[in-house]
Amino acid sequence: MTTTEIERATGTKYVGRPIDRLDGRAKATGEARYAAEHHYPDLAYAALVHATIARGRITAIETAAARAVPGVIEVLTHENGPAMKPFKVSLLDPLGAMASGTSVNYLATDEVHWNGQPVAVVVAETHEAARHAASLVRPAYEELPAVVDFSAEEPNATPQKRSMLLESEADKGDAKAALEAAPVSVDLRFTTPPHNHNAIEPHATTAAWNGDHLTVHEATQGIPWVRKQLALRFGVPERNIRVLAPFVGGGFGGKGPIWAGTLLAVLAARATGRPVRLALTRAGVYHTVGGRTASTQRVALGADKDGTLTALIHTSVARTGRVGGWQEQITSASRHLYAAPNIHLRQHLVQLDLLPNIPMRAPGESIGTFAVESAMDELAWELGMDPIELRMRNEPERNPVDGKRFARRFLREAYALGVERFGWNERDPRPGAMRDGRWLVGMGVATAYHPAMHLPVSAAVRLSADGGVVVRCAMAEIGVGAATVQAQIAADELGVPLEAVRVESGDSELPLGAMAGGSIQTASVASSVLAACRKLKESALALARRAPDSPLRGRRLPDLEARDGGLFHGVSGETYAAILTRAGRDHLDAAIKPGALGMVGALRDMRRWVKAACGAQFCEVRVDRDTGEVRVSRWLGVFDVGRVINAKLVASQLRGGIVMGIGLALSEETLIDPRTGRIVNASLGEYHVPVHADIPRIDVHWLDEPDPTMPLGLVGVGEVGITGVGAAVANAVRHATGKRIVDLPITLDKLL
Ligand code: MOS
Repeated sequence: MTTTEIERATGTKYVGRPIDRLDGRAKATGEARYAAEHHYPDLAYAALVHATIARGRITAIETAAARAVPGVIEVLTHENGPAMKPFKVSLLDPLGAMASGTSVNYLATDEVHWNGQPVAVVVAETHEAARHAASLVRPAYEELPAVVDFSAEEPNATPQKRSMLLESEADKGDAKAALEAAPVSVDLRFTTPPHNHNAIEPHATTAAWNGDHLTVHEATQGIPWVRKQLALRFGVPERNIRVLAPFVGGGFGGKGPIWAGTLLAVLAARATGRPVRLALTRAGVYHTVGGRTASTQRVALGADKDGTLTALIHTSVARTGRVGGWQEQITSASRHLYAAPNIHLRQHLVQLDLLPNIPMRAPGESIGTFAVESAMDELAWELGMDPIELRMRNEPERNPVDGKRFARRFLREAYALGVERFGWNERDPRPGAMRDGRWLVGMGVATAYHPAMHLPVSAAVRLSADGGVVVRCAMAEIGVGAATVQAQIAADELGVPLEAVRVESGDSELPLGAMAGGSIQTASVASSVLAACRKLKESALALARRAPDSPLRGRRLPDLEARDGGLFHGVSGETYAAILTRAGRDHLDAAIKPGALGMVGALRDMRRWVKAACGAQFCEVRVDRDTGEVRVSRWLGVFDVGRVINAKLVASQLRGGIVMGIGLALSEETLIDPRTGRIVNASLGEYHVPVHADIPRIDVHWLDEPDPTMPLGLVGVGEVGITGVGAAVANAVRHATGKRIVDLPITLDKLL
């Protein structure tokens, strides 16, 4: 996109405005229906039975007691369950690499791969009967030795395979020698625990077969993937499957691919001939969905006495499951942060007999930035230097590991604004020097970083003679306001009122390709929506130019302005309604199908530039002098997120990321019994996500500098908010107490 196009967008009516969500009312009133809220007259209810061993075989499974529960329709086990086709992964599937729990042949095998794996499904007339009966199913097992303890297995880690989409490793110069020679250095080892997905809507599927046609109401971030996988596993053509996900109550990566519950609900519906609803319990989410890997990381930094970095070493160990799992890109952000002449970045993995881990908001960067940004802060202490000054001294002009150009980078500006707004200069740099009664006050900063990209997706736009516009795209609305921003974009590009635009999404019958993940959806869809709107303007103009009496005769699109529901040159012009009506057309359609060529172009574009969302996180904590209790008392995030399409929605995304990051810093931790591999805190009562009382006012700002390489200059904002947060908290705690906490979460026992 050219600068003029970006400038034209700047002058527009809706882009940039804090427009209310178009679906806000539907959500607030309960009119919006989620995957577990679709009724069918003969609906049956499913519940899962979870394995209680980490690895082994089922030798027998006792179902008589379950079958005797009134209302039970069927108990499906590996002895009687209909077979699914085996899992197959194609290299061309963008999510194939994260096969995860999808790869298990549920109910077609007696094998158990993790403690909590579904081993039976009960179908009943009510949800309660299904759950009660599920509790009465008794599998017997032959156990096999299982490896479930991450810290014990860590020495056996092996090198991680390279990711096709995201580079994470690097070697530049001789980092080891430079570290040894450095006059000032730090060398720290960090650990982060596993984290669990806790979207407000637990995963749910309602599945209905009609012959060999299947309708699935699904809580998913990726409609195309769900449809494709169901087609493969159940042996029906994709066109026979309709996946509906108009509303999804939070994704964060947890609803990215397709999970056991989806497969088993569809299987249960096929086996019983009834539409089946499976709404996971919260514990069910823990046992079948998963979350972020545990990690250990080493960050070693060497610097000259003036703070100029000479060496940056960042290595990590993460885990996958023996049957699959996401390979987290923990060191990826470290390729882009600092202008060190010697850099060494490496990632390793262990395989555990646990539920495969999956992406969770800024997978890699959220915990990777905790380590590298904590180490930078520690280096600032060693140097006796302000941590912001240290960062600015090492701010690169080009991408440090390979010299590629940044599409844009305004980290200096973000810090400068933050310093002023947060009152950073009032910070007394001595540890423990700032007090408020019995509270030790600390202030810390850290850099936020998340890559930006857009991939080709299909979308279509219809312009009707009545002036209405319909945007059609099977994108996922996971709570971010996806439809609202696309309506703003289409309204501006076509020059029609926002009220004239309707967005249809969340249905596999619509143009496919979009997925809500990797912070790519908004830019990806915007690119196609803009292209479709431009095609429509061309078509409308072509119609007008054929009419002898049209004021647009002889005009070319670049000379015209789209406004007031039509195309204008100065005061002369016509509305789309007038053009279409005169031409006897009810509507005009434009469809964008980028296909493989689009993918090649997108990958080439990704190679050419380093694109990212970044920012400066400012945290103030209060630590109780006697109990070690940590409270976050103030937060400011200043972000460089390209052009902001909707200020309200962007603020929500950034704030939400920061809240989740505060959870990562202070309280979230999936506890796994090292003997059995069982998650022992599989509930919101025992896995502590932040609640309102834990969160201060969060101030977010952005620079609103368009990215010249992205559609409309926008970059995704879904994930950058969580990055850097863990380190900003740890650095504030270091300032308040003098203690460097390297093991998350920062609980009071570590401070006493
Ligand atoms: Mo995400 S972790 O890209 O949904």
